[in-house]
Amino acid sequence: MHNSLFSGGLRLTDWPYGLGPYHAPDGPRKARFDSFLPRPGVRKRGMTDLHTHTRLVHLGRDPAAHQGAVNPPIVRTSTFIYAGLEAYRAAAQDPDYKYRYGRLGNPLSCAFEGAMAELDGGAGAVVAASGLAACVLPFLAYARAGGHMLVTDSVYLPIRAFAAGFLRRAGVEVEYYDPCIGAGIGDLIRDNTCLIYMESPGFGTFEVQDVPAIVAAARARGVPTAIDNTWAGPLLFRPLEHGVDVAVQAATKYIGGHADVNLGAAVAREEATYRLLKATAVDLGYNAGAEDLYLALRGLRTLPLRLRESGAAALQVAQWLEGRAEVARVLCPALPPDPGHALWRRDFTGAAGVFSFFLKPLPDKALVAFVDALALFPVGSSWGGYESLLQPQDLSARQWRLPETGPLLRLQIGLEDPADLIEDLERGFAALARAR
Ligand SMILES: Cc1ncc(COP(=O)(O)O)c(C=O)c1O
Repeated sequence: MHNSLFSGGLRLTDWPYGLGPYHAPDGPRKARFDSFLPRPGVRKRGMTDLHTHTRLVHLGRDPAAHQGAVNPPIVRTSTFIYAGLEAYRAAAQDPDYKYRYGRLGNPLSCAFEGAMAELDGGAGAVVAASGLAACVLPFLAYARAGGHMLVTDSVYLPIRAFAAGFLRRAGVEVEYYDPCIGAGIGDLIRDNTCLIYMESPGFGTFEVQDVPAIVAAARARGVPTAIDNTWAGPLLFRPLEHGVDVAVQAATKYIGGHADVNLGAAVAREEATYRLLKATAVDLGYNAGAEDLYLALRGLRTLPLRLRESGAAALQVAQWLEGRAEVARVLCPALPPDPGHALWRRDFTGAAGVFSFFLKPLPDKALVAFVDALALFPVGSSWGGYESLLQPQDLSARQWRLPETGPLLRLQIGLEDPADLIEDLERGFAALARAR
């Protein structure tokens, strides 16, 4: 980073600004980016000494290259022109496909990919126009006709449709595994297993997986691993440091943070994996819009603050729900009674602001009365934004069933005051009681 702020002996490694309510399971909080393999033009000099919050302020932007403009300008271009044939030939050699053609790598996609690679501690990142496109990228990269893939039963629902449709037609067999399987996954690995795909905590049900145990079993058999890390993101869980090969994230959620962008990223731990992902993305015409990339880069600046606020408020709301007679169980790994709590404490450094709860069985009209009485929790499919939401969860496709039989509701806790959210839920429960 060619600036004066971090030169001249000023080091911010001891800056006492922690992550609020997050715990530090392995000693004082310190950015661990030692495993980051610098990509040319991506890493900024001096950044490795800094805490993650400070890095987030500086990642993916270079004011000196834009007349001092703080944020990278939105560059809209499909085409780059060259001073001559030699310059064109040189650009065509760039292994990252930078500035050759808009779809392949443009100023904002390169800035966002560089930021995501450094944030996750990976060798390289590939951006995608949606979280789902990022999720399916490792499947597409590792798919082989006659291959076998292991996917957590708690996976984001559209992945099931992708597996049952596209992958099946392509001759790839997908087998779902119990999200609590841990080292037992070794027994499911076959000679033709070509990917293990995790999502932790699980979609809607928030089971925490024993990622190190799964990775150890996969590595023993040479099987690549990928994880959907959208819930925690690299601030709260660091899959690549646990040996996972690809960490995918829907930047749509916490990185965008304002319910106005769909975007995804797949970050590879090793150079060869990055090359495979990038080549697959190039073959498939992966691309992302300049405005969306700009918004995602902007979202990165405030990510830790929003995550901290939402996580702390969610914990308050979840604890309050635990005490309600109408609630059968709260599914939130940050709560001590949760079956995933010990693994969460071991591997994560904080909790995001999304969790679910089972209501005790009740007539549908009482459920409708509860949901419709809520003013601050509109029904909506997304999460990770500044606004609270509620979404009913459909577990009918799952093989590993939970014992509860009542409806499962997911809450996304935004940046409202948690006291108002609790009061709103109280109103909902009053309406539920009236409708019984
Ligand atoms: C865990 C998870 N992964 C991936 C996605 C997909 O993101 P997008 O909707 O941008 O495709 C979502 C969206 O809800 C999600 O919740």
